[in-house]
Amino acid sequence: MLTWEAPAKINLHLRVKGLRADGYHGLESIFLALAWGDTLRIDALKGPGGCELSRNCFCPPGDLPFPPEQDLAYRAALLFREKTGFDRALRIELDKRIPLGAGLGGGSSDAAAVLLALNRLAGTGLSAAALGALAETLGSDVPFFLSPGTALVYGRGERVIPLDSPRNIRVVLVNPGFSSDTAGAFRLLDAERDGPAPEDIPREILVRALSGSPGLWPYGNDFLPLFLEKGKSGEAEAYRGIILSLKALGAEFAGLSGSGSTCFGIFTDGGAADRAVRNLLERWNFVRITFPLARSGNAVLQ
Ligand code: C5P
Repeated sequence: MLTWEAPAKINLHLRVKGLRADGYHGLESIFLALAWGDTLRIDALKGPGGCELSRNCFCPPGDLPFPPEQDLAYRAALLFREKTGFDRALRIELDKRIPLGAGLGGGSSDAAAVLLALNRLAGTGLSAAALGALAETLGSDVPFFLSPGTALVYGRGERVIPLDSPRNIRVVLVNPGFSSDTAGAFRLLDAERDGPAPEDIPREILVRALSGSPGLWPYGNDFLPLFLEKGKSGEAEAYRGIILSLKALGAEFAGLSGSGSTCFGIFTDGGAADRAVRNLLERWNFVRITFPLARSGNAVLQ
């Protein structure tokens, strides 16, 4: 039996470029893995057999809206077996804490954790490049989670350049209680954008800013202005309200992760972050404080 942690992520920066011929959008993003997430336990029995996934959902909405066979973690296990011929019966148990459709990468992180854990358990010794190729077929965010830390991410999400994680910051997550549909968000962006994507920020500026004060970060999320202007009215209000509250409570930087729905605040003052959590919990059900995960294999604090 192997236990493997599957951390959540936020996007400190997310620039969405044009629609490509393959139906995906070019991205330029800074991903930050967090010291909080899901936990996977995986066991290979003695003889050959099928794969069983059981999930304990500690996250909203409580009941998972799709069967285990459609879970990306399950699909990752099947893909691994198909590519490697590893056929021993598998029991996988997943503790899900990361809310679904929340822009925190829960499903993608679970899938990467399955690939990494099976590679260890089966002793297959797939290289990082071979695991990356499997990860990419499962989803755009999955390759990042093969070595979760802080990274500049581009292409459709599969190109990952590791960066040093920012130090001495706290991350406060606030989920507004509704989920976001990723494909729908990209479609809305295509429909509403009348010109080209905003100018790129040069990569060296994106990277250098990370070691400076969060109050000076030049980062942004292309989905956020879209949701504030064209989103459903309750959702736009929620995003506006959370981000304004985070800033009023001392966040030096506040933004939206992925295509929503989780917002985050970056604090350098731990006391202010703790007070912000207490204050935000009066209005929002899902509020968590965590910090960046240094790239360290599968060690995640719960
Ligand atoms: O790769 P993944 O399955 O996570 O993507 C979900 C959906 O998000 C895609 O089907 C696509 O509509 C959209 N997407 C995109 N460009 C990306 C990543 C995702 O358009 N770079």
